[in-house]
Amino acid sequence: MAHSPPTIDAARLNRSLDELGRIGDTPQGMMRLAYSPADVQGREYALTLLHRAGLATRIDPAGNIIGRKPGADPNLPAIALGSHTDTVPNGGKYDGALGVMGAIEVVQTLADHSYALRHPVEVIIFTNEEGTRFHRWLLGSRAMAGLLEPEDYTAVDDEGVSLAARLADIGGDLARIDQARRYPGELAAYLELHIEQGPTLHQSGLPIGVVSGITGRAVLAVDVQGRANHAGTTPMPDRQDALAAAAHLVLETQRLATGAEICRVATVGHLQVRPNAVNVVPGAVSMGVEFRDADINALSAAETTLRRRAAEIADANRVSVDINVVESTPGVPLPARMQDLVAAAAEQSGLAYQTLPSGAGHDAQAIAAITTSGMIFVPSVDGISHAPAEFTPPEDCARGAQALLNALLLADERL
Ligand code: GLV
Ligand code: MN
Ligand code: MN
Repeated sequence: MAHSPPTIDAARLNRSLDELGRIGDTPQGMMRLAYSPADVQGREYALTLLHRAGLATRIDPAGNIIGRKPGADPNLPAIALGSHTDTVPNGGKYDGALGVMGAIEVVQTLADHSYALRHPVEVIIFTNEEGTRFHRWLLGSRAMAGLLEPEDYTAVDDEGVSLAARLADIGGDLARIDQARRYPGELAAYLELHIEQGPTLHQSGLPIGVVSGITGRAVLAVDVQGRANHAGTTPMPDRQDALAAAAHLVLETQRLATGAEICRVATVGHLQVRPNAVNVVPGAVSMGVEFRDADINALSAAETTLRRRAAEIADANRVSVDINVVESTPGVPLPARMQDLVAAAAEQSGLAYQTLPSGAGHDAQAIAAITTSGMIFVPSVDGISHAPAEFTPPEDCARGAQALLNALLLADERL
């Protein structure tokens, strides 16, 4: 190496994480849902830090924030560092936020040391990674990777507001969203630091995870239609109880990943009961079901099995069940050379690591379609994430950011 890597400022990183973590903080956890006023405020804070680090910034038509630092060689494509600042409802302070604040700390450290790289460096803050509001996730990164689907363009959120209107609120433009697209060759590489969100590193006591691949995910909307009726007078054999049928479907979903082991995990995390009154036999239920597995065939096998069981449950309960695929995102392996690079970056700072797959989804899985991508994990205490108790100790956050800086410098040298 030309120089040994400069050391990131751990205290500054953790201060900016704390500062971002105050935006949208509520007694029930983080509420920076994509496009909300808190999300806008979080993005403004990130923009301030990017400007402080000397980066020129722009917002692309998908609403992604892109900060750019020129490189010494004007002919080289940029190496991108990124993640997201939106959260799930009642979420945690580190999911996405660490990757963004870590990337900003890296470019600020390089600026402090007047450290010149051959490649330009971009910090990308992807919009709407979580997809909770529109039930369409990885929106900014999929737009950049050319992976939008027709349903994305017409999406309407839970409050009845169109994606076009929401994007306008954050400086995007749905009419021009295709211009957010970047093509193979435009980015030399993409690196994302993230909390693991699962228990592996916490249990092994190792500070760094080298991510081998990112899980695939299928989301289904399941609508159960029964008949609402009086809970005191309707005899049991006459009922068309949508919630009783849905309860069977919840357990069948769980069985896909337990007893049947068709896919790695399966969850019903969203349920709406109508009319949701204690003295009314439930007339209709909407369920959000998701399956995750690295293998796309496991996802389709799980769907086929659930459809078969749903037909049986519908018959037995005298209801109808309608199943629609909302989203299907294939898993991606991350290239060996990026895994080697992340491992070398950890070794450079004497950080022990292990290689592990990601059970959560990430912007990196979309960006992997247009450039060679790598991910660095740090531990999540007790494996808790997407919940207010999500926590990664400050020293682990700093180790992750240092590994990110080292990885960037290695990529600058090797790519
Ligand atoms: C993204 O946060 C996911 O749900 O994995
Ligand atoms: Mn995330
Ligand atoms: Mn998340």
